[in-house]
Amino acid sequence: MMPVQLQCPLVAVACVFMCCLFGTLSSPDPRVREALIELEASMQTGGQMVLTDAEQRLDALLFEMKQEEISRGDFPPAVHFFSAKRLIQRSPVFSLLQKMPKGGALHVHDFSMVDVEWLVKNVTYRPHCYMCSTDEPSFRFIFSSQWPKPLPRCSPWVLLENLRSKMVNATDLDNSIRGNLTLFTDQDPEVAFPSQDVVWDRFEQAFRAVWGLVTYAPVFRDYYYQGLTQFYTDNVMYLELRALLPEVYELDGSTHDRAWTLKTYQDITTQFVSKHPDFFGARIIITNQRRANRSAIAQAVEEAMKLKKDFPDFMAGFDLVGREDRGKPLWYFRDALSLPAEKGVTLPYFFHAGETDLEGTEVDQNLLDALLLNTSRIGHGFALVRHPVAKDLSRKKGVAVEVCPISNQVLKLVKDLRNHPAAALMLENHPVVISSDDPAMFGASGLSYDFYEAFVGFGGIKSHIGSLKQLAINSIRYSSLSPRQQKEALVLWQKRWNTFVTESEFLKTN
Ligand SMILES: *[C@@H]1O[C@H](CO)[C@@H](O)[C@H](O)[C@H]1NC(C)=O
Ligand SMILES: *[C@@H]1O[C@H](CO)[C@@H](O)[C@H](O)[C@H]1NC(C)=O
Ligand SMILES: *[C@@H]1O[C@H](CO)[C@@H](O)[C@H](O)[C@H]1NC(C)=O
Ligand SMILES: *[C@@H]1O[C@H](CO)[C@@H](O)[C@H](O)[C@H]1NC(C)=O
Ligand SMILES: *[C@@H]1O[C@H](CO)[C@@H](O)[C@H](O)[C@H]1NC(C)=O
Ligand SMILES: [Zn+2]
Repeated sequence: MMPVQLQCPLVAVACVFMCCLFGTLSSPDPRVREALIELEASMQTGGQMVLTDAEQRLDALLFEMKQEEISRGDFPPAVHFFSAKRLIQRSPVFSLLQKMPKGGALHVHDFSMVDVEWLVKNVTYRPHCYMCSTDEPSFRFIFSSQWPKPLPRCSPWVLLENLRSKMVNATDLDNSIRGNLTLFTDQDPEVAFPSQDVVWDRFEQAFRAVWGLVTYAPVFRDYYYQGLTQFYTDNVMYLELRALLPEVYELDGSTHDRAWTLKTYQDITTQFVSKHPDFFGARIIITNQRRANRSAIAQAVEEAMKLKKDFPDFMAGFDLVGREDRGKPLWYFRDALSLPAEKGVTLPYFFHAGETDLEGTEVDQNLLDALLLNTSRIGHGFALVRHPVAKDLSRKKGVAVEVCPISNQVLKLVKDLRNHPAAALMLENHPVVISSDDPAMFGASGLSYDFYEAFVGFGGIKSHIGSLKQLAINSIRYSSLSPRQQKEALVLWQKRWNTFVTESEFLKTN
């Protein structure tokens, strides 16, 4: 009955109580109970964080806000995000989380950083933008100085400028474009997306629709700058972006190679940081589709090794993307993925793994294989609690899990976010960071919505200001930054955190 395997000083306290009182009382001793409750609370993420007086006052305020939120009828984490979004926007806890310096966003994809509204209203209104309709139904776009060549399985191209000039009112057209660039919908999400297959098909379709817009060089630059702006505005100070590094094209149809694309990311990051000195920067994790074959992955790994050599500080590493359940397992690519180790070259991995609820399949082994391939972090790790050995390794090796609550809900791994497996991970302070995966596809932005779901949904009434502080610190501690850079980033973060805590105290009087 005694938790002898726990190594917390509080256990000792509990033992003393239990031993000396054992046999003398028939009902449980309230002091023992208190000590055990405290022990459990201290084990959670941020449970051992020492709080300043100001932080404690803010925590009391947060506690009140949360209690009020939980007592209301529609509890947002229990509801699909598409329906919960409006409720969350009215939440005082959410507005506090928006102001909170959240540290880094470590799991975000290149073409889902920016609000779809900006793509519709800004990008599709630029000159030379052509569109055709596929029979999915969906759209494809291209910018071109000449009438573009027809695409297979797409209607003849129309120049959007011409189309709109003939319309009295372009609202319906814009709504239909917007609807095809994101999963977010006002319809009942359970009806629109009845299964994982349907939602993944629509998800991939939306990326194909976005593709022609965001790979046009002027848009590519503006999109990334706009993405940094949105994360910065949401009080995120650092980004690790998973990027496919497409061949970006110009108006005359010429294309740039992948090194150009990486260099462009680097230049724009530098430009952004020089305008926003309290933004720490960004790094790129190069990604490749996991549905590719062995020789394509081997080639991608070779190229990634070369790019890592050419951009040692800006490029963080390599990952495979796309639906795990439909792609090949990591083990299938073990030879290609072992090339760097064989050649003595450093290429850190940041594998998506365990984004599945299919237990016991080949793909379900990805978590263990990611760890065997020395992954630096685990993307999603939704299945981690079902793999005690992988979980133990992840903890011992300090391989953090990148938890993306809204993504897992929209892509139908979990309905009610109170039941997300990461809730259990956070109760035992497993190394985790919170991220947003593809915020634009899900109708979210930045990190705050996902922080809200984690803080209120996973944590219930138990998580507190220490949990939030720990999550922010984790996002720097488990980043790919060097120890020296992490120290600098933490100093910058701490300054912003102190300001946040002081300023939030005034909320109470409002
Ligand atoms: C579109 O965005 C660019 C870059 O962010 C900006 O310079 C331009 O003014 C915007 N155009 C419109 C029509 O909003
Ligand atoms: C344009 O159409 C939309 C939807 O059909 C309508 O709500 C809106 O009022 C119209 N705008 C104007 C200026 O007529
Ligand atoms: C996508 O575009 C088609 C037209 O090609 C339209 O009928 C459909 O409603 C759009 N989808 C969404 C979800 O808006
Ligand atoms: C692997 O994929 C590449 C690129 O899609 C293709 O060119 C190549 O033929 C494929 N190789 C094999 C062995 O299937
Ligand atoms: C993983 O790390 C171990 C220990 O450093 C090393 O022996 C092994 O070659 C690495 N494997 C890969 C695939 O990087
Ligand atoms: Zn992802």
